[in-house]
Amino acid sequence: MNIEQVRSRFTKHFDGTTGSIYASPGRINLIGEHTDYNGGFVFPGAVDKGIMAEIKPNDSMKVDAYSIDLKDRIQFGLNEEDAPKASWARYIFGVCREMIKRGVPVKGFNTAFSGDVPLGAGMSSSAALESTYAFALNELFGDNKIDKFELAKVGQATEHNYCGVNCGIMDQFASVFGKAGNLIRLDCRSLEYQYFPFDPKGYRLVLIDSVVKHELASSAYNKRRASCETAVKAVQKKYPKVEFLRDCTIDMLNEAKADMSDEDYMRAEYVIEEIQRVLDVCDALEKSDYETVGKKMYETHHGMSKLYEVSCEELDFLNDCAKKYGVTGSRVMGGGFGGCTLNLVKDELYDNFIQETCKEYETKFGKATKVYDVVISDGSRRIE
Ligand code: GLA
Repeated sequence: MNIEQVRSRFTKHFDGTTGSIYASPGRINLIGEHTDYNGGFVFPGAVDKGIMAEIKPNDSMKVDAYSIDLKDRIQFGLNEEDAPKASWARYIFGVCREMIKRGVPVKGFNTAFSGDVPLGAGMSSSAALESTYAFALNELFGDNKIDKFELAKVGQATEHNYCGVNCGIMDQFASVFGKAGNLIRLDCRSLEYQYFPFDPKGYRLVLIDSVVKHELASSAYNKRRASCETAVKAVQKKYPKVEFLRDCTIDMLNEAKADMSDEDYMRAEYVIEEIQRVLDVCDALEKSDYETVGKKMYETHHGMSKLYEVSCEELDFLNDCAKKYGVTGSRVMGGGFGGCTLNLVKDELYDNFIQETCKEYETKFGKATKVYDVVISDGSRRIE
């Protein structure tokens, strides 16, 4: 993805004039998975892969959008009943609608966009798309009156109201607030956040993509969220002040065990432990104790695989390979059901780990993994 590419398609498909170019990144998450919608903590960072879009108001009330990667062009109006069918266009439409709901007088525009954040790999390509348009429409039609917190919420509301995913705030927050070289510790209840410079001397962070797509996972994701809410309701009978699983201890959960299914209990147990792990990892990072960071990552994988049940055979295999080749920490990243493992690996073990894992994976599953080195980068911005 580069500016020239986007610009040449934009001028070719529209009236030959140029617009403004915006970009937003995908994200990684060091630890804290499925904790955001439980009012807990997450620890993401933006990456150097994302979405880039050129946009120009067109003096009409219609959006004319071109997906460069899919070679697909769609026009839609800006009223609620104008929702396009194609899923990629629904993200843009949803962002327009959510901005309008917040008082931004969005009008028609021409746009072409492209992305290099792999789709369905757990790196939040959809949040990158939403943040790009939220940021752009705020500048082009809203005099920048919407603050960055609300821009992240626009993306999240787009997922809820137009894409059928009841996601938390992590992905959109990381995409909007990303800062080069820094991870973000975010309290998803208060939205208080802190940048953590992340430069693990002697280690590398690398993603290994199982290439298992998680496209059909939205109903499973929503089901996990519903389990957490059921568990909260059960705990509330005795502890009415509990708002989220964030407010529960394992002891409190145990007291309510009879009032929930075994499955809901397991889901809640994972979340309560995971919220604590984020805090433990922050402490460990402050002491540059990467061994503890890595240990917690493995614990997260175990929890996501056995209690939250959002891993799959391929991801478990990649996690086993990491253990076998001496990787300090490894886990499935993002929502799960496919996508990548995130690996914290010592410099001197890196080459062997990548080489052997890729070979073994291909032998076992008959398909090749993809490897992405993590570069922590800036959030939403105007480029030109
Ligand atoms: C997806 C969601 C996020 C978060 C993660 C899991 O990426 O969009 O809100 O819940 O899964 O941590």
